[in-house]
Amino acid sequence: MTDFNIRDYMREKQGLVDKTLDGILPEEQTFPPGLHQAMRYCVFAGGKRLRPILALAAAEALGADSRPIAEPACSLELLHTYTLIHDDLPAMDDDDFRRGKPTTHKVYGEAMAILAGDALQAEAFKLLASGKHAPDKAIAALQYLADAASSLGVIGGQAVDIESEGRQINKELLEYIHIHKTGRLIRASVMLGAVLGNGNDEQLKQLEEYSNAIGLVFQITDDILDVEGATETLGKPVGSDEARGKATYPAILGMDEAKRMQQVLYQQALDALQTFDRKAAPLREIARLIIERNK
Ligand code: IPE
Ligand code: IPE
Ligand code: MG
Ligand code: MG
Ligand code: MG
Repeated sequence: MTDFNIRDYMREKQGLVDKTLDGILPEEQTFPPGLHQAMRYCVFAGGKRLRPILALAAAEALGADSRPIAEPACSLELLHTYTLIHDDLPAMDDDDFRRGKPTTHKVYGEAMAILAGDALQAEAFKLLASGKHAPDKAIAALQYLADAASSLGVIGGQAVDIESEGRQINKELLEYIHIHKTGRLIRASVMLGAVLGNGNDEQLKQLEEYSNAIGLVFQITDDILDVEGATETLGKPVGSDEARGKATYPAILGMDEAKRMQQVLYQQALDALQTFDRKAAPLREIARLIIERNK
C-alpha cells in the first residue's frame, strides 16, 4: 500500500456515497415536492462526505468489507446535512452560502429549511433502523448516532456555541463546544464503521481515541479556515465567526495555539492507531487531510 493515494480513495468513496444517497432519498417529485426538493438540494450541493467515508475506512481498518456498510454510513451524512441546514438559519449562524451554493433557507425559505432538516434527521434513523446487519450491531450503531444527535452531543454543543457568542469563555467551555457540536458526530462515524466492521473491545477503544482526536481537530481546523481560508474554495463565507463573535480556537486562544493544537491532536490520532496495520492507511491519511485541508 505504499502507493496508496488518499485523494483517489476519497474520490472513489465520494462517488459511492453520492450514489447510495441518491437511492435512499425520496425523489424530488414525491409528494410534497417542495419538501423533497429542499431535502435533496443541500445533500447534493457537494460536501466532502467525510463522515460516511470515516465509517467505511474504520470498517476497512478492521479488515472488513466496507461495501455492506455504505447504506448505514449514509445515515451520518443525512444527519450531518440536517445540522448544516439548521446551523445556517437566521436564528443560528445566519449564513447565506453552504457547499458553494445559496443556503437552503435562502432558496426554499426558512420554514421549508427547518422542515427539510427535521426530515433528514428522521431519514438518518430510518435508514439505520432498516439495515440488514445483526440486531446487536445495528442497535450499537443506532446508539452512537442517537448519542451524537442528542442534547449531550451536537445539540448541546450548538446550544453552548450560541450562548457563547460575543463572550470571552474559558478553554474548558471552548473545548466542550467543539467536542460536542462537531466531535460527537465524527466519533459516531468512526464507531459506526467499527461496530459494523466487527471490531473487538480493544479495537473499539483505540478507534474511539482516534475519533476523539480527529473530531476536535476537525473543528479547530474549521475555525482556522474561517480566518485564513478562501470563500470560493470553502464554499461558505470566510469571516463569519468573527462577524458573529463566535467562540473559536483562534479567537479565544490565538492562532499560534490553534495551530499547535492541530499538531498535538494529529499526533494523538496517529498514536491511537499504532497497533493497526496498513489497512488503517486511509484512517491515518484522513487525519492528515483534516489538518491540511483548504475546504
Ligand atoms: C462543516 O462540516 C461543519 C462542521 C462541523 C465544521 P464539513 O466541513 O464536513 O462540511 P461538508 O460536509 O464538507 O460540506
Ligand atoms: C458546525 O460549526 C457545527 C454544526 C453544524 C453542528 P460551524 O458553525 O463552525 O460550521 P460552519 O463553519 O458553519 O460549517
Ligand atoms: Mg455554527
Ligand atoms: Mg456555521
Ligand atoms: Mg465554522
